[in-house]
Amino acid sequence: MRTLLVTGGAGFIGSNFIHYWLKNHPLDKVINLDALTYAGNLENLETVEHLANYRFVRGDICDQEFVSGLFDNEHIDTVVNFAAESHVDRSILGPEAFVQTNVQGTLSLLEAARKAWSGDSSSCLFLHVSTDEVYGSLEPDDPAFTELTPYAPNSPYSASKASSDHLVRAWFHTYGLPVLTTNCSNNYGPYQFPEKLIPLVILNALDGKPIPIYGDGLNVRDWLYVEDHCSGIEAVLEKGEQGQVYNIGGGNEWHNIDIVHLICDSLDELQPGDLPCRELIRFIKDRPGHDRRYAIDSGKIRRQLGWKPEYNFRTGIKHTVQWYLENRDWCQRVRSGDYHSYYRKQYD
Ligand code: NAD
Ligand code: DAU
Repeated sequence: MRTLLVTGGAGFIGSNFIHYWLKNHPLDKVINLDALTYAGNLENLETVEHLANYRFVRGDICDQEFVSGLFDNEHIDTVVNFAAESHVDRSILGPEAFVQTNVQGTLSLLEAARKAWSGDSSSCLFLHVSTDEVYGSLEPDDPAFTELTPYAPNSPYSASKASSDHLVRAWFHTYGLPVLTTNCSNNYGPYQFPEKLIPLVILNALDGKPIPIYGDGLNVRDWLYVEDHCSGIEAVLEKGEQGQVYNIGGGNEWHNIDIVHLICDSLDELQPGDLPCRELIRFIKDRPGHDRRYAIDSGKIRRQLGWKPEYNFRTGIKHTVQWYLENRDWCQRVRSGDYHSYYRKQYD
């Protein structure tokens, strides 16, 4: 039995992970520490909040004293660190929060874990969830990112994640903290905040609003269904070697424009409107410093830990579109608050 501290558990991947973990490890205890920024939503966890082995705590990972108190009171032996500012466009509009949460916050968690586990850390694990964006951008014919690809972050977001990865590595080598790092490609699925490409396209299309595509639409991302990311993290927690890095990805590269077409066609099939959705597509000014291509080589986790993704992309997208169609109230609620002022700043 483990006691997990899941940070950022009210966000997109964190909430999917908590559902996944409680379903597959019903004897473990999960403490969800989340500051509930614009991206955190407790509605994502309504179906587990009654469970005796789940507890939500509102707090900031940067507050080290508070985090240390949690370690002491809850006897945490496993950390899964999802908490972060996660959206590249927001990092371009305002980088400070990214350095604060992603760098300072990770430092604060590492220090709290180091103090709490200083006596005996033999059954403890600190898993840091990171991104493929730390490796920079690939040319069309470059091989996919491996764990040995040098870091070359290009956005304030990826630079802050790269910094946090370096801290995690250093805490292993210097202090012997039992750390693991995962670098994953683009996720999609239920509960993703509609600032990210896939939910933004779905919701704009449903509202008959323009679908914004940056630049020529030929940037490439490597997409993974969120539950496959969760099972990858599980494999690393259960079988990973301390101090090691594992890339997680679907080997599923798509041009942005092709994904948008796929979503439009799914919507036309599931909920036909007056006009084909594709007519809403608009090419707009490119994202500054827009990375051209990401691709993950997940050979290491597949070979060494026996992980593989289960979801096929076309099925996963259809399932995701269906989820957004069935959860229009959730969509309405997450787009209240600051969403409209962010949207105007970014797209008008
Ligand atoms: P998200 O933005 O949906 O959720 C982030 C969560 O962290 C929110 O619940 C937010 O309230 C919380 N949070 C933010 N600042 C906090 C703070 N200071 N203290 C406590 N909680 C705080 O993000 P996501 O897409 O679920 O990503 C989760 C993690 O996975 C991030 O670390 C991200 O870098 C990484 N990642 C994301 C993807 C992706 O495609 N979304 C891919 C690879 C890696
Ligand atoms: O690669 C992993 C990363 O994937 C994660 O670390 C990040 O947290 C996550 O946000 C995601 O970053 P991206 O920038 O790749 O995702 P986003 O959904 O913002 O954009 C995907 C692609 O679509 C990218 O090439 C930019 C483009 N795009 C995005 C938006 C929001 C558009 O063309 N139009 C848009 O309106």
